[in-house]
Amino acid sequence: MLTKSIKVTGLKKSYKDLQVLKGVDFEVEEGRIFALLGSNGAGKTTVVKILTTLLKQDAGSVTVNGFDVASKPENVRQAISLTGQFAAVDELLTGRENLILIAKLRYLKNPRQVADDLLLSFGLTEAADRRVSTYSGGMRRRLDIALSLVGKPKIIFLDEPTTGLDPEARIEVWNIVKGLAKGGTTVLLTTQYLEEAEQLADKIAILHEGKIIASGTLSELKKMFPLAKVEYVEKQPTLEDIFLAIVGKREGK
Ligand SMILES: Nc1ncnc2c1ncn2[C@@H]1O[C@H](COP(=O)(O)OP(=O)(O)OP(=O)(O)O)[C@@H](O)[C@H]1O
Ligand SMILES: [Mg+2]
Repeated sequence: MLTKSIKVTGLKKSYKDLQVLKGVDFEVEEGRIFALLGSNGAGKTTVVKILTTLLKQDAGSVTVNGFDVASKPENVRQAISLTGQFAAVDELLTGRENLILIAKLRYLKNPRQVADDLLLSFGLTEAADRRVSTYSGGMRRRLDIALSLVGKPKIIFLDEPTTGLDPEARIEVWNIVKGLAKGGTTVLLTTQYLEEAEQLADKIAILHEGKIIASGTLSELKKMFPLAKVEYVEKQPTLEDIFLAIVGKREGK
């Protein structure tokens, strides 16, 4: 049996009258990449905030690395890191200074070495001593992810890691994420890009109108929607076909 890094059962959350999560269930196995897919406003960030102990749920249970987020938030925090939807780097510091700062905050033994290693593996060595305000969006995002890896967390949360990046920078981030999972890190990422989920995820869950309306591996999802006919030529459905088929069907009800 594979260890479950994340277990979410019956998760509910409302903001005043707005019911955002209406009973969300999913599980993520250790060392896997899980993509939570949904349109703007579907509730992806809300899920991430609850799983990373930044927000309390109204109902349901969530365990991360075996600890309940509501009753053992400190234990959860020790095992995770979060790269939020909006970059959290300090613009006035250099890339290296940002990394050293976080390494010191986490009481690591050799902050300078930790920073050097991460700069190297993220292709930021050359830019290391420039202020982040001079970085491109892709470099900033790479630094952001590097920052979240300081201290080697077991589970990392990436909220829309590639939104706003050009295709090349997006592929760089994808390679980083794939490398993390290869090294045994569990990754939960949210995305609006179907292709991203298709490229990266071992398992995909589609969040729509407060619930997970479909989940599985890409091939499982494809089996649910076996054939898409386009101009008399049968083809394998893309995740986009599947997404539209499910979401469209629901909305038509
Ligand atoms: N603090 C808040 N107070 C009130 N409403 C909120 C709050 N945070 C989020 N919402 C609402 O809850 C819904 C879900 O928001 P959330 O940010 O989780 O969506 P999302 O899937 O991350 O969207 P996006 O793709 O745009 O990032 C939206 O309708 C949003 O307006
Ligand atoms: Mg969001």
